[in-house]
Amino acid sequence: MRIDGRHYRSVWVDEEDGWSVRIFDQTRLPWTLEILRLTEAEEVAHAIRTMQVRGAPLIGAVAAYGVALAMRTDPSTANLERVCEALGRTRPTAINLRWALERMRTALRNQPEERRAAAAYAEAAAIAEDDVETCRRIGEHGLPLLQEIAARKAPGEPVKVLTHCNAGWLATVDYGTALSPIYQAHDAGIPLHVWVDETRPRNQGAALTAWELGRHGVPHAVVADNAGGHLMQHGEVDIVLVGTDRVTRRGDVANKIGTYLKALAARDNGVPFWVAMPHSTLDMRVRDGLAEIPIEERDATEVTHLAGRAADGRVVTVRVAAEGSPAVNPAFDVTPARLVTGLITERGRCAASEAGLLSLYPERA
Ligand code: MRU
Repeated sequence: MRIDGRHYRSVWVDEEDGWSVRIFDQTRLPWTLEILRLTEAEEVAHAIRTMQVRGAPLIGAVAAYGVALAMRTDPSTANLERVCEALGRTRPTAINLRWALERMRTALRNQPEERRAAAAYAEAAAIAEDDVETCRRIGEHGLPLLQEIAARKAPGEPVKVLTHCNAGWLATVDYGTALSPIYQAHDAGIPLHVWVDETRPRNQGAALTAWELGRHGVPHAVVADNAGGHLMQHGEVDIVLVGTDRVTRRGDVANKIGTYLKALAARDNGVPFWVAMPHSTLDMRVRDGLAEIPIEERDATEVTHLAGRAADGRVVTVRVAAEGSPAVNPAFDVTPARLVTGLITERGRCAASEAGLLSLYPERA
C-alpha cells in the first residue's frame, strides 16, 4: 500500500534498530494511521488478541515475529515452546496462526541456542515473503474471473463485486487475498464497483476495506450487512469474492461471521461465490468444517457497543443495544463446500472439494 509516497507492508522490522517489529494499529483505523512498535512476544500476543493486527495471514506473520522477539532474550527450548503455546492461544479459528508457529518451531528446534534469534528473524521474514508472493499470485489467478465478467458487459460498465470483512492488504503482509484480484483488475483498467459489507460487529468492511479501496482509488460503496441479498436479487452483484480463515479437506470455508448468509443468497440468485485461499489457510487435518473448526467467541460488548468518531474528532464508544440485554458474539461461520463456486489460490483455481484441492496441492494428501 502506498502511504505518503512510500510503499508499506502491514508488518515489518524497524529499519533503524533492526529488531523491533512495526505494525499499523488497525483498531485506530479509519480515523488515524498509527504505527506501533512491538518489542516483546507478550506485546505481540496482545496485538493479536485485541485485533490491533488481524486477518488470517497477517496474524500468522506477526506471530512469527513474536517468536523472533522472544528468542532475542531467551533462546531456550522451554521458552520456544512456551511462546509458541501462548501465541497460538490468542485466536482459535484462523489456521494460519498455527501454521506459522509450527513453521517457526520446525525451523528453530534443531538450531543451537546461540543461532536461534537470527534463524527466527530469517524464518519470520521468509513467512512474510511467502505471503506477499502468494497474495500476488492469488491476484493473478483471480483476475481472469473479473476479466471474463467485464468482457460480457458494455464498454465502461463496471464489474460489480461484493466482499465481506477485510481480506485486503491489512489482512495480509501485502496485496490481500480477495482484494488482490480487485486491485489487479483496477490497475489493468477494468471498471469495477465494490459493495463493501460493513461487517458488524467490528466493522472491518466499513473501517478497513473501505479505507483500503479508497486509498487505491477503487470505486466502492459500504452497505449494511443485510443489504447483500437485496442487491443480488436486483442484479447488482456479478460476483462475491471473500477471504477465509480456514478451508477444510472437503472444501468447507470458515470466514467472518455473515459469510454463510452471503453464500446462501448468492446460490439463490445464481451469483458466483469465490473464496481466495492462500496455502497457509488450508487445513487438511480437518474434514467437516461445521463440526471441527473452533469458532472464536468474542466479547459481547463488540455487539452491544459501537465505536466511531464524534463531530469534535474524538473516537467514542456508544452503547447501541438495549440497556441490560445480553449479547453473544460468534466471530466466524462456516460456509459448506456445496455453496462455494470455487477457490482462488496461488497455484490456480479449483473446486471446493477434496479432489479439487488435491489437484493443486497433491503433496498435502
Ligand atoms: O476477525 P478478523 O478481522 O481477523 O477476520 C478476518 C477475516 O475473516 C478475513 O476474511 C480472513 O482472515 C481472510 S483475510 C485474507
